[in-house]
Amino acid sequence: MDTANQLASAGTFQVLKLPLGFIRVLEWLFAIFAFATCGGYSGQLRVSVDCMEKASSNLSIAIDFAYPFRLHRVSFEAPACEGMRRERLFLTGDYSSSAEFFVTIAVFAFLYSLVATVVYIFFHNKYRENNRGPLIDFVVTVVFSFMWLVSSSAWAKALSDVKLATDPDEVQLLISACKDQTNKCGSVQEPRWSGLNTSVVFGFLNFVLWAGNIWFVFKETGWHKGAARFVGGASEKQSSTFTQQPSNQGSFDQSGSYNTHADLGQLSEYSQVGGPSSYANQM
Ligand SMILES: *[C@@H]1O[C@H](CO)[C@@H](O)[C@H](O)[C@H]1NC(C)=O
Repeated sequence: MDTANQLASAGTFQVLKLPLGFIRVLEWLFAIFAFATCGGYSGQLRVSVDCMEKASSNLSIAIDFAYPFRLHRVSFEAPACEGMRRERLFLTGDYSSSAEFFVTIAVFAFLYSLVATVVYIFFHNKYRENNRGPLIDFVVTVVFSFMWLVSSSAWAKALSDVKLATDPDEVQLLISACKDQTNKCGSVQEPRWSGLNTSVVFGFLNFVLWAGNIWFVFKETGWHKGAARFVGGASEKQSSTFTQQPSNQGSFDQSGSYNTHADLGQLSEYSQVGGPSSYANQM
C-alpha cells in the first residue's frame, strides 16, 4: 500500500472538510456567477414611434446595450415625423465605474479563493509556517469582505439607475417626435433583467460567504487560542471524536489547530464545536 499517497489523499479530504476550504470553493463558484452574469450581459429594449404621417413611422426601434453600461455612448435613430428625416439620439448615464468595479472585485476574489484552495490542499505545511499564511489570509479575507459589500452595493444602485435609463417609457421622453401629442409613442419591449438581478444577489451572497469565512481564517491564526485555553475542558466533553488516519505529517482539524507531532496510532479529535482538542495534546 502506498502510504504517501494515502496520507496525501487523507490530507486533501480533511482540508476540504474544513469550513474554511469548503467555503473557499463556494467563494470561487459564486464569484464566477457574479462576474459572468454582470460582465456577460447584453440587453435590448424596443420603442415605437407612430407618426401622424404613417410613412415615416418606425414601430420597432431596437436599442441594444451591454456591459459596462456606458449608456451615454449607446445611440439609436428615431423618426422625426417630418418627412423621412430621422434624428440620432443617445441614452443617458455612464454606469461603467460601478459595473467594472464589481466585476474586477469578483475576478480578483475568484483568483484569490482559487489560489487559497490550492494552497490549503497542497501547501498547508508552508501555509502554517510562522503563522504567516493565516495572517495574510485573514487580512485579505477581511479586505475582500469589505470590497464585496461596497462593490455589490454600488452595483445594486447602478443597476437600479440602468433600469430607469433603459425603461422604454423613459427613453420615449428623449425622442422629440414623442413630445408632439399628434404622434403616438409606445414601449414594445423591456430589457430582461434576470441576469443582472442574479449578479447583485451573488454579490451579496459573496459578501456573506467572505464575511463568514473571516471567523474560520481567524481560527487558523491561532489568536483565539489564548481565550480558548480556559474553555478547553468544557468543549472537549461536548466534542465528538473519531479515529483518524495515523499521520506523521500532522493534522489539520476543524478547530484550526495544527498538530505537527502526531504519533502513529494517536487518536486525534475532530471537534464539532471548535474546541482546541489537538492543541491540548501539545501542552
Ligand atoms: C426602424 O429602426 C430600426 C432600428 O432600430 C431600423 O433597423 C429600421 O430600418 C427602422 N425602420 C424604418 C422603417 O425606418
